Amino acid sequence: MAGLVIANWKMHGSLALIEEFSQQWRGLPQLSEVDAVLCPPTPYLVAVGEAFEGLLLLGAQNCAEQVEGAFTGEVASQMLAEMGCKYVIIGHSERRSLHRESDAQVAIKARTANAAGLNPVVCVGEALEQREAGQQDAVVSEQLLGSLAQVPCDNLVVAYEPIWAIGTGRTASPVQADDMHGVIRQRLQEHFGAAGSEIPIIYGGSVKPENAGVLFGCDNIDGALVGGASLEAKSFWQIASAASAGRA
Ligand code: PGA
Repeated sequence: MAGLVIANWKMHGSLALIEEFSQQWRGLPQLSEVDAVLCPPTPYLVAVGEAFEGLLLLGAQNCAEQVEGAFTGEVASQMLAEMGCKYVIIGHSERRSLHRESDAQVAIKARTANAAGLNPVVCVGEALEQREAGQQDAVVSEQLLGSLAQVPCDNLVVAYEPIWAIGTGRTASPVQADDMHGVIRQRLQEHFGAAGSEIPIIYGGSVKPENAGVLFGCDNIDGALVGGASLEAKSFWQIASAASAGRA
C-alpha cells in the first residue's frame, strides 16, 4: 500500500496560511507512493479544496453521529463528502477528552462516515499513566474494538496516537510505536480476518521531519497523522517525502 500522511491543522490556520502553504507546496517536487491529506478546520474546507486540487486530498477533523437533523453546530458526513472530503478523523484524543466522546460514539461516527463514502481515520491511544503501568496493549485493544463495533473494514484507517506524545515534543520511540502497531494489526486481523492486513495503521504524536524517516522505516507503520509540523508546507512535505521513500 502507498504511504498515508494526514495533516491535522486542529483549530489553526487562516486564508492567509492556506495561500502561503499552497504556494510553497506548488514549489516542492511532486511525490509518488504517498497519499497526502490536509484536514483544515471546517470553515476552510472549500478554500483548501480549491487551493490544493490535484495536489493534496481533503479531509475533515470530525463529523456528526447523525445523518441529518436538528443538531445545531454539527456537520454531517454527507456534507463533508459533498465538499470533496475523502477522509475524516474520528475519535481524536482531544475530542475524547474535551468532548467526552466514547468508543461507542466513535464507532457510530465511523459507520456514518463510511456510509457517506468517506474513509474514517479512527484514533486510539493510551494515557501516560496507563503506559507507565504497562497497560497500553490492553487499553488500546479495548479502545480499538469498542471504536470499531459494526464498522466495515473497507476504507478504514487506524491512527495510533499515544496521548503523552501529542503536542508534547515527546515521540514514542520507533520500537514503542512499532510494537503497538503490531498489536493493533493483530487485533484487526482477529476482528476482520484477512482484510485486517490491508487496513493502514498510521502513527501520530510529535511527528517531525527529523523523526519521520525512522518511524516510516518500521515494518508496522504505514504513515503519520501530523499536528504541529503540518502547519508548515516544507516540514509536512518532508514528512510526506519520508513516507514516500519508505514505500519505494
Ligand atoms: P502533534 O499532533 O503532531 O502536534 O503531536 C498530532 C495529532 O494530535 O494528531
